[in-house]
Amino acid sequence: MTSVPPTITKTKRLHSTKLRKSSSSPSPPGDKLSSFASIAVGRKSDKDETRSSKSTKKARHPSSNDFQKRVEARLKGGKFRFINEQLYTVTGDAAKKSFKKDPSLFKTYHEGYREQVAQWPSNPLDIIIGELSTRKNLIIADMGCGEGRLAESCPDCTVHSFDLLRHKPFITVANLAKLPLEDQSVHIAVSCLSLMGVDWALFVQEAYRILKPGGLFRVAEVKSRIEDRQDFLDVFTRCGFVNKTYDDRNKMFVMCSFIKPKSGAVIPKLSDGEVLELSATMQPCIYKKR
Ligand SMILES: C[S@@+](CC[C@H](N)C(=O)[O-])C[C@H]1O[C@@H](n2cnc3c(N)ncnc32)[C@H](O)[C@@H]1O
Repeated sequence: MTSVPPTITKTKRLHSTKLRKSSSSPSPPGDKLSSFASIAVGRKSDKDETRSSKSTKKARHPSSNDFQKRVEARLKGGKFRFINEQLYTVTGDAAKKSFKKDPSLFKTYHEGYREQVAQWPSNPLDIIIGELSTRKNLIIADMGCGEGRLAESCPDCTVHSFDLLRHKPFITVANLAKLPLEDQSVHIAVSCLSLMGVDWALFVQEAYRILKPGGLFRVAEVKSRIEDRQDFLDVFTRCGFVNKTYDDRNKMFVMCSFIKPKSGAVIPKLSDGEVLELSATMQPCIYKKR
């Protein structure tokens, strides 16, 4: 896909607290879900039929072949951007239902994501793999594992890989807000660019629940999403974590680590209002059209 540049732009705060508070009748997740699930990704509309029959005719000419490839790349880029935007603007449950309805969305998303990240100077997942691949006998939860590369890179640890769809047999389908793991059962939880959705504060709460006392939560996020560092860190503090590191030297992403205190205290659950308010401390990240 050549049509998507590496830059990430800020859009209006689609899920800002202000917006939510001022809206008298906010659209229920179902509204957004239906728009997500019903998009004609990979399905042919009448218009598409017209488009493809025209391009088939042109494809006989070599230069038209290039044109067709460019059109296909542009359409693919458009689909990726659409799905990406949806993932940032619906709840985890709504996104899970959409991917279940149309698994091709997931494939399109990950092809586009792979191409985006290939244009970055470095991939935060490689940094995390560098830290964990030689560790032994740890239990790790990869929250939003994508293609499951962390599990494949840590042969001496038990890695539970979770995502919205089972891309590989070892991946467990789960919404990060409700993981099928016991309380205090993992040494390390990882979230690499996966605090997506309007309710991502629930993922932080869930990481705290599954971590053993003294456990580590390793987080990488897109730098441009974080408007105010303290507001962002406060989400983790509210969920019980202590911030240990915050590294924003990279142009594209920040890397942070949080510890669940040894006391392992049970922290009061977030209210629905808090979930939305805390989750609004990060902007959705939208890739620019070329
Ligand atoms: C940007 S990708 C990163 C994937 C992987 N961590 C990596 O670094 O290659 C984010 C992943 O988080 C997953 N994700 C987002 N929200 C989720 C949710 N509520 N539950 C489970 N997975 C989720 C997406 O499906 C996607 O695979």
